[in-house]
Amino acid sequence: DWTADAFVEQSISSLKAKLGKDRVVMALSGGVDSTVAATLVHHAIGKNLFCIFVDNGLLRKDEYDQVLESYRDMGLNIKGVDAKDLFYSALDGLSDPEAKRKAIGKAFIDVFDQESHLIEDVKWLGQGTIYPDVIESVSVKGPSATIKSHHNVGGLPDFMKLKIVEPLNTLFKDEVRLVGKTLEIDPTILGRHPFPGPGLAIRILGEITPEKVAILQEVDAIFIGGLRKWNLYNEVWQAGVMLLPVKSVGVMGDERTYESVVALRAVTSVDGMTADWAHLPYDFLAEVSNDIINKVKGVNRVVYDISSKPPATIEWE
Ligand code: XMP
Repeated sequence: DWTADAFVEQSISSLKAKLGKDRVVMALSGGVDSTVAATLVHHAIGKNLFCIFVDNGLLRKDEYDQVLESYRDMGLNIKGVDAKDLFYSALDGLSDPEAKRKAIGKAFIDVFDQESHLIEDVKWLGQGTIYPDVIESVSVKGPSATIKSHHNVGGLPDFMKLKIVEPLNTLFKDEVRLVGKTLEIDPTILGRHPFPGPGLAIRILGEITPEKVAILQEVDAIFIGGLRKWNLYNEVWQAGVMLLPVKSVGVMGDERTYESVVALRAVTSVDGMTADWAHLPYDFLAEVSNDIINKVKGVNRVVYDISSKPPATIEWE
């Protein structure tokens, strides 16, 4: 029978055998998978693992600084790269969801390629790919691959010429969390909701601007903070907010307003392939909605997404 303890032991010894004294580079996202994968590789080869964490300007509020700090606390050899401007200019003028994903994927590869060339004699690329990612990207003919191009699997340019090491590619998410627990990784990282690689770019419908990102970060922080405060965070599989390309009329004091609409999305799911909208308490939704409208300039209406997957997807883009 599979146990996390046995997996950790076997994985570290096989990584040691496979990697020897080679150098490995890994891009970390702050998510469960890449963090657990990096920790395993770190246990196996120590300072020969070089980690990179990119600020693409599309992360949650304060997430870049917080995540970088936790990685440093964990003893990982991590370099933070501020590439916000590069990503914003790559996204400039784009509103099609797939065009945005492709632009982000390309910008990421450019940054990563540049950074990995700074590491002398690196031989391997480590990735936090888990089993369901393998399935999704292998079934190229299946609907999921053509509905949305998940940019975090494959698609690397030849010139990188790195061998790939994916210590989690046989595991499901719940197993990854158990492995992370065995490795004593911070529970807030292990319990973190999934977050898409393209980040807030696919939650801002239409064109991306730094101003829209700032608005969405504030709204998202209120929603996620509220879920934590009401002890609902762990009850949902994933939650986030969409900034809609729609303005609506409102009234604030005796002023007429004409501002943006946001849609809150929270789902329950096992693996993200199917999902139900989370039946969050009305009192919670009322508090969060008031907080958002009172505190975030530029938003005067909040709606709650009650669509399940299928036929709706979790993200709106
Ligand atoms: P959908 O929206 O297809 O999302 O129901 C299923 C899960 O995948 C995440 N997602 C992505 N993750 N790159 C990623 O790394 C992407 O382009 C991407 N698109 C969706 C989504 O957040 C959900 O967890």
